[in-house]
Amino acid sequence: MENKVTRIGVLTSGGDSPGMNAAIRAVVRTGLYHGLDVFGIYRGYSGMVEDEIQPMDSRSVANIIQRGGTILKTARSKEFTTPEGRKIAYENLRKRGINGLVIIGGDGSFRGAQIFSNEFDIPCIGIPGTIDKDMAGTDFTIGFDTAVNTAVRAIDKIRDTADAHDRLFVVEVMGRDAGYIALHSGIATGAENILIPETKTDFKEILAGLSEKEKRRKLVNLIVVAEGDEIGGGNEVGRLIKEKMPHADVRVCILGHIQRGGSPTCLDRLIASRMGYHAVECLMNGKYNVMVGIVNNRMHYLPLDSAVKAKEKFNKDWLRIVKILAS
Ligand code: F6P
Repeated sequence: MENKVTRIGVLTSGGDSPGMNAAIRAVVRTGLYHGLDVFGIYRGYSGMVEDEIQPMDSRSVANIIQRGGTILKTARSKEFTTPEGRKIAYENLRKRGINGLVIIGGDGSFRGAQIFSNEFDIPCIGIPGTIDKDMAGTDFTIGFDTAVNTAVRAIDKIRDTADAHDRLFVVEVMGRDAGYIALHSGIATGAENILIPETKTDFKEILAGLSEKEKRRKLVNLIVVAEGDEIGGGNEVGRLIKEKMPHADVRVCILGHIQRGGSPTCLDRLIASRMGYHAVECLMNGKYNVMVGIVNNRMHYLPLDSAVKAKEKFNKDWLRIVKILAS
């Protein structure tokens, strides 16, 4: 990678997350500031293969910092996983002289970027964008804060109606195989139990806790379940509780894709702007094939090939806090 980066492409890939637009805006405007030509690649890697690539100027990213979703659209591309697909994608970049890429997405998108960069000598920079927050090498991923705040607002509303009817509510939140959204939103809404994939769920203990609460007439209970919990998500947890406690008034609510949409929070706009700016700075300074993260409020650069899903051990204190505070 001897050549100076002069023309860059930016794309969003995988599931969208609120704040991706703020990151696109930062990449485009920082690129233009440095005199680069900037291209938007539509629908993630699919657009690279299918030649959906458009030049961008400062106005193309006006009025988007506050918008959820992604103006570049996103997709999970099958073609790009094949050498033939990547070759076509490369030809589409080459004919425009694009010699640097910024990829906003998750670990799967970064793996694709690393392979592509090895094959065609195009420097790639990753920006972590996922509501799941399951990335190593960064304290934040773009979209998590918005998603978790959406979940908190929704669960607060559920608690109102649960309280009015003395009901037990099981609320399922997203996160794929990570429990961050469940843990954060569950603690913030005072959930009685939080079920996450990172810890083994002791169902007997949950039932014993519910029976004990029932004895002291504490009938309003909120159980927040991560969709990836090994018991099998909200519906299954609700079914099992009904089976073991047939007299309990149980309802299940799956929050679903509402968590992916909406206007990004201040935090998500801020980290997206910082990461977008630093991603272009990396390309300008020859710091290639890294993921731009933030650790302890400082920029942190992780080689793309180590930018994998976080297999983080949860701080045991957090789960202890849930038990003590939800008594
Ligand atoms: O990775 C983000 C995410 O929203 C996960 O939390 C969820 O499991 C998944 O994407 C849903 O994917 P889709 O939108 O393809 O149904």
